[in-house]
Amino acid sequence: MEKILEINNLHKNYGKIKAVQDLSLTVEAGTVFGLLGPNGSGKTTTLGIVLDVVRKTKGTYSWFGEDPGSESRKKIGAILEGPAFYPYLSAEENLKVTARIKCVPYDRIEKVLKTVNLHDRKDDKFQSYSLGMKQRLSIAAALLSDPYVLVLDEPTNGLDPQGIADVRELIVKISGEGKTIILASHLLDEVQKVCTHFAVLNKGKNVYTGSVDEALSNKEIVEVSAPDRERLSDLLKECPYVSDFTMHNKKTMVRMEQHKTAHDLNAFLVSHNLVLSHLVTEKKNLEEQFLEILSQSS
Ligand SMILES: Nc1ncnc2c1ncn2[C@@H]1O[C@H](COP(=O)(O)OP(=O)(O)OP(=O)(O)O)[C@@H](O)[C@H]1O
Ligand SMILES: [Mg+2]
Repeated sequence: MEKILEINNLHKNYGKIKAVQDLSLTVEAGTVFGLLGPNGSGKTTTLGIVLDVVRKTKGTYSWFGEDPGSESRKKIGAILEGPAFYPYLSAEENLKVTARIKCVPYDRIEKVLKTVNLHDRKDDKFQSYSLGMKQRLSIAAALLSDPYVLVLDEPTNGLDPQGIADVRELIVKISGEGKTIILASHLLDEVQKVCTHFAVLNKGKNVYTGSVDEALSNKEIVEVSAPDRERLSDLLKECPYVSDFTMHNKKTMVRMEQHKTAHDLNAFLVSHNLVLSHLVTEKKNLEEQFLEILSQSS
């Protein structure tokens, strides 16, 4: 796999504050990589360093296997802070300004406006745009130079549910066009919905890296019910495949041991003469996984 970004033992101190501590990670081509972590965990600082707007304390990073420099920077489209658009200019005029700064031909503008679904609003003034449209225009600006990789810091911050859905859909679409995307987010469900891989930062440290699918399939959660709740409870306590369970009013949530599935559970219960009236498999919520990772790491 081609490496897009490799970070090795990165540190950043702001006085006594250790914003990033010994952070290493690799982002491979074609992935949507989520930098996930609570507020203040060092996500923006990390992105700032690799985009060359924050000075590192020590450590190294490389883009496309090369030392960072202006050549690699050209292949990166980034939105760290919202770019400054002129409120009284239209979207198209604003993108012309950006295109001139980036030395990109104007004929890219039409393409990126279509990508972000703003083509029919291209003549409207920026100041008349909704927050979600403004954010999509920022993404359009970052895409102007047809970068290999797009870097986004909290791309859905402040947007309403429709705006959030639009931006997420856009990220998935851009990824589908073959670009690698690196995004920082404190929202678990965002990472779960759009990312293929993720790292969890906690107090500046990388405490977990993996694929989203793997993290989700790690432990299966099964929702069951049976008329005889007491017998169900006894058997769940006995069952070696069950990690733990919680009984609610009607349903019981069972967390399986690693690599054990609803099928194993059902087979066990049937072999002990208990027939379920309800059985649904749920993918484990990343949130649980995330909280577990954070609690184990601190
Ligand atoms: N310019 C700065 N000067 C001093 N401290 C800073 C500076 N920038 C960040 N920090 C500190 O570094 C730590 C990491 O901040 P950072 O903004 O990278 O976190 P984050 O994960 O992006 O948080 P959020 O989810 O709130 O955006 C925090 O403790 C923050 O206060
Ligand atoms: Mg941040």
